Parts: sequence; C-alpha cells; structure tokens
Amino acid sequence: MTSNNRFVTSRRDFRARAHSNPLNDAEFLVPQDPRCFDWSPFIPGIGTTSRIDYVDLGCGYGGLLLELSKVFPDKFMLGLEIRDRVASYCTTKVEELRRLYPGEYRNIGFLRTNCMKFLPFYFPKASVDKFFIGFPDPHFKKKKHRQRLVSLRFLSEAAYCLQPGGMIYIVTDVEELFEWMNLKFSRHPLFSAMDKDQVEQQDILISYLLNHTDEAQRVQRRGPNTKYWNVYRRLQ
Ligand SMILES: C[S@@+](CC[C@H](N)C(=O)[O-])C[C@H]1O[C@@H](n2cnc3c(N)ncnc32)[C@H](O)[C@@H]1O
Repeated sequence: MTSNNRFVTSRRDFRARAHSNPLNDAEFLVPQDPRCFDWSPFIPGIGTTSRIDYVDLGCGYGGLLLELSKVFPDKFMLGLEIRDRVASYCTTKVEELRRLYPGEYRNIGFLRTNCMKFLPFYFPKASVDKFFIGFPDPHFKKKKHRQRLVSLRFLSEAAYCLQPGGMIYIVTDVEELFEWMNLKFSRHPLFSAMDKDQVEQQDILISYLLNHTDEAQRVQRRGPNTKYWNVYRRLQ
C-alpha cells in the first residue's frame, strides 16, 4: 500500500461550482465577539487564545496551510473559503490528516465565509500578523470587477484587523489584476509596498505562496509560469 492510498478524502467527492458570487447576501456564521471567540473546534491546538497569526483569504482547497502547518508549528492559521463544498473539503481533509498523524495539523483550521465582507467579525483589531491572497479570482469582465476581493473598503477592513507592521501578500498570474490590486493599495493610506529583494531574501513565506498553493502548481503545470507578487506592510 503506498502512503497515498491511506487518504480517503478526495477532491472528486467535493466537486464545486467554479465561482460563488461574493456580492450575494448568503448567510455565514460569525462570532458574536471576535475578542473572546473559541476557535478550538476549528484549530484544536489554539487553546484559549482568540488570536490568529496567519489568514489565507480565499484558500481554495487549503494546500497552502496544509504545507505551512509543518513549517510554522507555533503559528495559528485559518483558511477562509466562500464555496461551501470546497470549504467542506478543507475541513474533512485536515480532520483526516489529524487522525492519520496524531499531534499534527492542530495549528490550522478552515471556515466557510465571505472574506470580502466580514473580516472584522472574525479578527479583533490589530490582531492578525499576515494575510495571504493567493491567486484571487480575476473576474475579467468590467461589470464583474466589483466581485474582486481587493478594494479600498476591503483594505480598510484588513488594516483594522492587522497588527501595525503586519503584512498582506498578493500573488497572481493575471497581470491586469495585479495592476488593479497595486492601484488599490497605492491609494490606501495605511499600506506601503515592501522592498521585494529584501522579502525574497528574508521571508520564506513568499516562496510558499509562489510555489505551494494549489493554484500556483496549476499555473506551473499549465505554463507559462508567470507569477506577479507584492507584499504590503500595514503602517502605524
Ligand atoms: C483561484 S482560487 C485560489 C485558491 C488558493 N488561494 C490557491 O492559491 O490555490 C480563488 C479562491 O477564492 C475563493 N473566493 C473568492 N472570493 C472569495 C471571498 N469573497 N471570500 C472567500 N473566498 C473567496 C474562491 O471560491 C476560490 O476558491
């Protein structure tokens, strides 16, 4: 039996629609008070703290956090995903991995929500260290640009949740979307772009975002393997 045969959670059992409209008024569970929310049903190792370090926004099938769980065992991480079946896959997968590898994968968890609308309901003011936005949906048509995750309003909500000095990582293979996101950041008073050479030299996270998310690997397989990225720091 190969080690792969041990896994029973397969993406084929969690087929989902390609997109879910984030402007719909779907209902999501939100904590009554993010300052004292019990995250342990989602992230078993978190204990009584309600502070999440890293958040993967639009985490898809959760591949990034499954990798990062082992690299940063002392960080608590949450993946947020809007598509119901995809979020269910993430939860089922991480529960399976916890059963197979006792003591591991207890610092990460997943939740279905719309991160375009509800961030401050989940994370207290100045609590999050890093947000990841890996390969967000491009919504190419102009009339659908409103569905893009990064907007001035979204950045204000993210800035509220981020610690001063906290960071947002953006990665995409769509140049036009990249320019769009950079424009939004440049217009927001609470963010400044970090020096990319410095990030590449000092921060291994960027290499995980560029190479280890599910979508990053799909871009790699499909080619051309062009990826655009930036890291923004939340100012004081
Ligand atoms: C192209 S996939 C990228 C997934 C993952 N970040 C990766 O790199 O593999 C974009 C994901 O973001 C999710 N998404 C889009 N808008 C969202 C929103 N407003 N809130 C939460 N998830 C969202 C989509 O359902 C989809 O799974």
